[in-house]
Amino acid sequence: MIDSNQIEQWNRRFENSEPEELLKFFLKEFKGKIALSSSMSIEDQVLTEMVINIEPETRIFTLDTGRLFPETYDLIDRTSKKYKKNIEVYFPESNDVEKMVREKGMNLFYSSIENRKYCCDIRKLRPLARAMKSLDVWITGLRREQSVTRVDMKTVEWDENNNLLKLNPLINWTEDRVWERIKERNIPYNPLHKKGYVSIGCQPCTRAILPGEDPRAGRWWWENPETRECGLHKR
Ligand code: ADX
Ligand code: SF4
Repeated sequence: MIDSNQIEQWNRRFENSEPEELLKFFLKEFKGKIALSSSMSIEDQVLTEMVINIEPETRIFTLDTGRLFPETYDLIDRTSKKYKKNIEVYFPESNDVEKMVREKGMNLFYSSIENRKYCCDIRKLRPLARAMKSLDVWITGLRREQSVTRVDMKTVEWDENNNLLKLNPLINWTEDRVWERIKERNIPYNPLHKKGYVSIGCQPCTRAILPGEDPRAGRWWWENPETRECGLHKR
C-alpha cells in the first residue's frame, strides 16, 4: 500500500497542474498497472483522448451492465474506431444476473434501495473488481462539482474498497470546461446530452433533467441525493 504521506505529496505537487501533466507522470510511473475506467461520459471521453495521446497502450475499460442506452453502445464503437483503440468491455457474470432476476424480477431497482444496490453490485461492482485485478492505479472521470457526495474528493486518493490508488484528473474541472475541450478536439460524445441528459448511466435508472436541476438529479431520481451512488465510488 502507498502511504498517506506519499498521496499528500502528490496532491500538493499536482495541485495546480493541468490533467495532462498529472497523467504523464502517473502513466509513465505505473505503466502496465494503470487503467482508465470509462462510462463514456463527457469526462471519460476527454480523458480517453488525453490518455491515448500520452500513452496509447494504456488499458481503457467500460462496464456493460446489460442495461445501457443504445446511444451508449454506439458511442463505444464510434470511440474505438476514431482512436483505433480496443475499449475493453466487461460484462456481469450471467449466473449472478440470472439468479438476481429470477428472485427479484427484471426491474428490481425501483422497489428498494437494497434491491437497487444489489443490482449495481452484480452488474457493476463485481465486473469492476475483475477489470481491476492486478491494477495499481485506477483513473476515473469524477468531478467535485457533480454531486454532494463528491465535494471533498481529491485528485489522488487511496481506494480502500479496491485497494489501489485512484486518480481523478478532472476533479477540479467545471462542466463548461469539459464541453470546451470536447468541442476544441472534436471528441465524440453521447447524443443524449443534447436531449437533456446530463449524467448518463443505465437506461432504467437515468432520465433527462430540467435546466438548473442538480447534474445528477436524473440518476436514481426516485432516491434521496445522499444515496445516489452505485457504490463504485463509496468512501
Ligand atoms: S456512478 O457511480 O454514478 O455510476 P458516474 O456515472 O458518475 O458514476 O461516473 C463516475 C466515474 O466512474 C466515471 O468517470 C468512470 O470512471 C467510472 N464509471 C462509472 N460507470 C462506469 C462504467 N459503466 N464503466 C466504467 N467506468 C464507469
Ligand atoms: Fe442496475 Fe440501475 Fe444499477 Fe444499472 S444503475 S446496475 S440497472 S440498479
